[in-house]
Amino acid sequence: MVHISFDYTQVLPFVSQDEIKLFERECSLHRKNIYQRKGKGSDFLGWVDLPEKTDHALLNRLEADALAIREQSEVVVVIGIGGSYLGARAVIETLSDAFPKSDVQGMNSPNVIYAGHHLDADYHHALLKYLDNKDYSVIVISKSGTTTEPAIAFRLIRKHIESKYGINGASQRIYAITDAQRGALKQLAVQQGYTTYDIPDDVGGRYSVLAPVGLLPIAVAGIDVRKIIEGARAMATTLKKNDRLDNNPAARYAVIRNILYNKGKTIEILVGYNPSLMYFIEWWKQLFGESEGKDGKGIFPAGLGFTTDLHSMGQYIQDGLKNVFETVITVGKSRKTINIPGDDENLDGLNYLVDQGLDHVNATAARATMMAHVDGAVPNLEIHIPVIDAHNLGELIYFFEMACAISGYILDVNPFDQPGVESYKRNMFALLGKPGLEKEAKALRERLK
Ligand code: PA5
Repeated sequence: MVHISFDYTQVLPFVSQDEIKLFERECSLHRKNIYQRKGKGSDFLGWVDLPEKTDHALLNRLEADALAIREQSEVVVVIGIGGSYLGARAVIETLSDAFPKSDVQGMNSPNVIYAGHHLDADYHHALLKYLDNKDYSVIVISKSGTTTEPAIAFRLIRKHIESKYGINGASQRIYAITDAQRGALKQLAVQQGYTTYDIPDDVGGRYSVLAPVGLLPIAVAGIDVRKIIEGARAMATTLKKNDRLDNNPAARYAVIRNILYNKGKTIEILVGYNPSLMYFIEWWKQLFGESEGKDGKGIFPAGLGFTTDLHSMGQYIQDGLKNVFETVITVGKSRKTINIPGDDENLDGLNYLVDQGLDHVNATAARATMMAHVDGAVPNLEIHIPVIDAHNLGELIYFFEMACAISGYILDVNPFDQPGVESYKRNMFALLGKPGLEKEAKALRERLK
């Protein structure tokens, strides 16, 4: 039994049950290809049974290292980009309190901060300055071990940590998560004696949050990684045993979003009503954007936080171009309750809400908005989580991973590669003067004149 549920009733004015049923056979075939490792990009289907394969030995090791890192650090710098960054940040930010230093397990946690996910000089300058007076450790994550942004950040931070703690001291504080055999980071880690974790060959970046890529930083933040895996396992079991569209929510979600796409709804907005979900939405954007946006096709995944963005983008959604649909994450109960207090003067006119929970007001806003948007020809899908906790987040992660794979196969693309990402890199390397790209550099410089 899984806790999260998928509701598509608000899409039925736009998509009929018969249209959904037409995908029954095709979807079953895609599912078979995924489980039998036969579909496009089948070398990267290792994520399918990652929850099942994550055993006690790995979890024990992760927890022991996380504890050692927590004990020796006020700050932990997680270096990575894309799939080597967003999953950990998504889970940590979703499950941490809004204000720092009171982590989910009630003890002080190190402040987890991030680097290597952009090239901004001011940010990195400020980061190194901030680290001057902190005891810190580093988790550097890169599957290829050669990605420019994290490599530059790691070079900067390595110099800093080595001058602070000495080469040997620094080696005790650097944890590398990378390919088991290949890449510059692997080589350096072996040479310097860093603690390392392997990223399985058959798990791509954006599907790696349930591997040490996500699990080590998440454990360092004080979050129970066993619960995340338990939730992912529950979802994996449910999705595996249910082959029909009416009992497989990930397959149904994948089918409906493709039907909407074929009807001109080319933008999907993932909406959260809880600001803690912001980075989860970022993770989802990468998962679907990098997996599906190729061969001239793909739904454009966008993300918004309501009710905040109802006061900015709400106008467009209600009244703008009708090429949008929404998938709304609703939450049954917040972790803490807070009620609206009474006020004798009632100048703000809010006394009709006295003693109502903010939860109730937020949920009502969600319900009201969904109805308004459906009236404005914006189909709405709903994913309901009873409460935001580690188990349910594990369920949600696996739900979206499976939905993305099925959806990519329906779209007839390889959801596990990202050839388009190379184009900017090649231009950047050429313009920066990387040896071997002199011809490309000349052509690009001509264009810049
Ligand atoms: O999903 C992906 O494969 C990418 O987003 C990668 O995770 C990202 O480019 C980082 O790559 P690497 O882990 O090799 O540094």
